[in-house]
Amino acid sequence: MRPALRFAVALVLGLALLTWAASVVVMRTTRAWFERDMQLRAELAVSGAREALVAHWGRESDLRRALVELTHDERVLGAAACGTDLGLRARTIEYPAPLSCGRLGADVRPGEDFPAEAWRAWSSVFSVPGGQVHATAVPVISGEQPIGFVVLVHDLSFVERREATTRRFLVMAFGFLALAAAVTTLIAARLSWRGWSNELRRLIRGERPRPEFRPFLRDVRDLVERLAAEREADGLGGLWTPQRLKNTLSRHLHGERVVIVAHREPYVHERASDGQVTLVHPASGLVTALEPVMRACSGTWVAHGSGSADAEAADKNGRLLVPPGEESYVLRRVWLSPEEEKGFYYGLSNEGLWPLCHIAHTRPVFRSEDWRHYQEVNRKFADAVRQEVDSDDPIILVQDYHFALLPRMIRERLPRATVITFWHIPWPNSERFGICPWRDEILTGLLGSSILGFHAQVHCNNFIDGVDRFLESRIDREQNAVVHQGQWTLVRPYPISIEWPSGWLRDVPPVAQCRASVFAELGLAPDALLGVGVDRLDYTKGIEERMLAVERLLERSPSLRGRFSFVQLAAPSRTAIPEYQKLNETVAAVAARINQRFSSGGYRAVILKRAHHEPPTVFRYYRAADLCYVSSLHDGMNLVAKEFIAARDDEQGVLVLSHFTGAARELTEALSVNPYDLDEASAALVAALLMPRDEQRDRMRAMRALVAEFNVYRWAGRMLVDAARLRRRERLSGRLSRHLPDSASFAE
Ligand code: F6P
Repeated sequence: MRPALRFAVALVLGLALLTWAASVVVMRTTRAWFERDMQLRAELAVSGAREALVAHWGRESDLRRALVELTHDERVLGAAACGTDLGLRARTIEYPAPLSCGRLGADVRPGEDFPAEAWRAWSSVFSVPGGQVHATAVPVISGEQPIGFVVLVHDLSFVERREATTRRFLVMAFGFLALAAAVTTLIAARLSWRGWSNELRRLIRGERPRPEFRPFLRDVRDLVERLAAEREADGLGGLWTPQRLKNTLSRHLHGERVVIVAHREPYVHERASDGQVTLVHPASGLVTALEPVMRACSGTWVAHGSGSADAEAADKNGRLLVPPGEESYVLRRVWLSPEEEKGFYYGLSNEGLWPLCHIAHTRPVFRSEDWRHYQEVNRKFADAVRQEVDSDDPIILVQDYHFALLPRMIRERLPRATVITFWHIPWPNSERFGICPWRDEILTGLLGSSILGFHAQVHCNNFIDGVDRFLESRIDREQNAVVHQGQWTLVRPYPISIEWPSGWLRDVPPVAQCRASVFAELGLAPDALLGVGVDRLDYTKGIEERMLAVERLLERSPSLRGRFSFVQLAAPSRTAIPEYQKLNETVAAVAARINQRFSSGGYRAVILKRAHHEPPTVFRYYRAADLCYVSSLHDGMNLVAKEFIAARDDEQGVLVLSHFTGAARELTEALSVNPYDLDEASAALVAALLMPRDEQRDRMRAMRALVAEFNVYRWAGRMLVDAARLRRRERLSGRLSRHLPDSASFAE
C-alpha cells in the first residue's frame, strides 16, 4: 500500500475509534442530564401538591385523586404514595406494580431516629416489564415530621429515542470529518511531494530554491557532497596527489585559478658578491607547503620581492613564470621600500605579532609607526591582488600573520571573492591577545575571510573566544562560524603538511651515500652517531634548549662522548631584529662552551652551521642522521618533523619531538619531550640512539603512512572543497553569479 493511502486508512480507523469514544461520553452525559432533569421536575410537582397530599394522606381515594393530578405530564407514567413504614397508601392505575414502596425505600431508613431534615429526594432507573423507567421518591413533610414519600415514575423511552438520534448525528458528523481529513491529507501530501521534487530538480539544475526548502536542501547537499567525496577517495585509493588536487579544482571550482598571497616568495633571486645571480629556496615552512600546491593548481603567487636581484628577474609588472625550467604558475613580486619592510615585516609582524602568538617568553613590541606601515603594506597587497584576479568572484588564499588586514581589504575591493585565510602560527588565548593595541582591527580584518584556517582546533577556539570577547558579532558554535557585519567566516582546523613524496628526494642520493658524504663533510668516524636539527635561527625553535639537552646527555652518558655529535643547520633569519641577533650570539656561545667541555682531538659535540642551506643539502643531512630533534618551545605545526620522515625511505632514524608543536598531535610514534626538561629530553635522545632497528622501522613506517595520507595536497584540497561548497551556497543564496568564466587570462 502506498504511504499516503496507508496514512488515510489509519486516519479513518483512528477517527472511527474517536467517534465511538465520543458517542459513549456524549450518551453518558446527556443521560445524566435527563435523569437530573426528571428528578427536579418530580420534586417541583410534589412540592406544589404538598398541601393537598398532606390533607388527603389518610384517605386513599382522595389521595389517589391528588396523585392523578401529578401525572398530567405525558412523560409521567404513574405515581404512588408510601408511608414511613414503607406501606402503600395510594397509587394511580398506570403505576408499575413491581415498584413497591419497599423496593423504593430500600435505600433509605426513615424512622423516629431519622431527623426530618435528612429526608431528601432520590431517584433511580428500574427495569420493569415493557422497558426501563425512572422513579423519583420525594419526601412529604407535615409540619416538622415526614409522613411518607411520593413516587413519580417517568417513561424513559423518549430518552432512548433522543439518544439514538444523537448517536446517528454524531457518527455521521465524525464520518464526514474523517473523510474530509483523509482526502485533504492525500491532496496535501501529493502537492508537497511534487513541490519537494521540483525544488530538488531546481537545485540539481543550479537554480535558487525557495527559502522554506533551503534548510532541507542544505542537508541533502551536504550528504551528497560527503558521499561524492568518499566515492572520490575510494576511487583514488584515498591518497591525495597533485593530479587529484587539480581534478578537485576543476570539478568543484570549474578550474578556477587561485591567487595566493604570502609575504615570503618561493624563489628569491640573489646577487652574490661575485656578481652572479643565484636562485634561493627560502627556509620557510610556508614555502615548503605551498609551492607544490601552486605547481598543481597554477595561478598566481603574490609575494614580497625581497631578493637583491628580484627586480631584474621579473618583468616591468613584477611578474615571472616559475619554477624555472618547469614554468607552471606566475610569481608576482610586490616591491616594498626599506621603511615599509622595517615597519611591516620586522616591526609589527615579527616584533609584535610573532612573539604575541608564540609562548616563547619574548615580549611583543608594538609601535604605532609599525602599525601604520603594516596597514599600508596590506593595502598595497590588496591592490596587487585586485590586479591579478581575472573575475569578480576569484578564490584568494591569504597566508599568515603578515596579512591580518588583507581579507577585509580584499572584500572591500572584490565583495564576491572567496577569501581563504590560513594562519600558520598559533593563535593566543584572549587574555594574551588582548594586549595588542590593534586587536579589534586585526580581528575585523581577518573576519573579511570566507574561511579562516588554523593548524589546530585549540587555535580556532582561541580565535572565536577572542572575537566573542572583543567584537560585536554573532558566534555560531555549531558551525564554528562568526557572523560579523553580516559576513560569515567559517573557522576551521586544517593541519598543514608537506608534499608526498617529497620532490627533493628525486635528486638526493640513497641513504648510505648521504651518510657517507655527510660524515666525510663533518669529519666523523664511520661508527659515530649523529643527531640533526634544522631550523631558522628563531627563539621559538628552542635551539638553545636543544644544545643544553645534548650537553646533559654527554654529562650523563660518558660512553657517548667522542661518539655522538649533534649538527645544527641554522638558517639566519630576521637578522635586523635585536632579539634574533642576541639569539644568534647565544646559540654560538652555548655551542662553543659545550664543545670546549667535551671535544677532544677532531671530535666536536655540537656542530653549528649558521648558514642558509638549500633543500637538497637539508635532505642529505636528514638521511645521514640517527635522530632528528625538533625542540620548538611553541610551533603551529613544524614541517621539519614531517620532512625528516619523508626523507627516511629506509624506515630508519628516530624523531624526537617537542610536545609544543602542532606536529606532536599527529606524529604519536615520535619520542615526545618537553624541551624545557633537559633530563627528559636528554634521556629521549639516549633512547633514540639505543633504539633497536626493528622498533625504529615500526615507528617510522607508521609515521610515513600518516604523512603520506595527510599530505599537503589533502590540506589544500580540503580547504578548496570547503570553499567550493561555500561558493555553491552563496550562489544559491544569490551572492555570486551562476556563470563562472570557462577560461581565464591574467589581468595586465
Ligand atoms: O611559521 C611562520 C612562518 O611565516 C612560516 O610560515 C615560515 O616558515 C616562517 O615563518 C618564515 O619566516 P620568514 O618568512 O620571516 O623568514
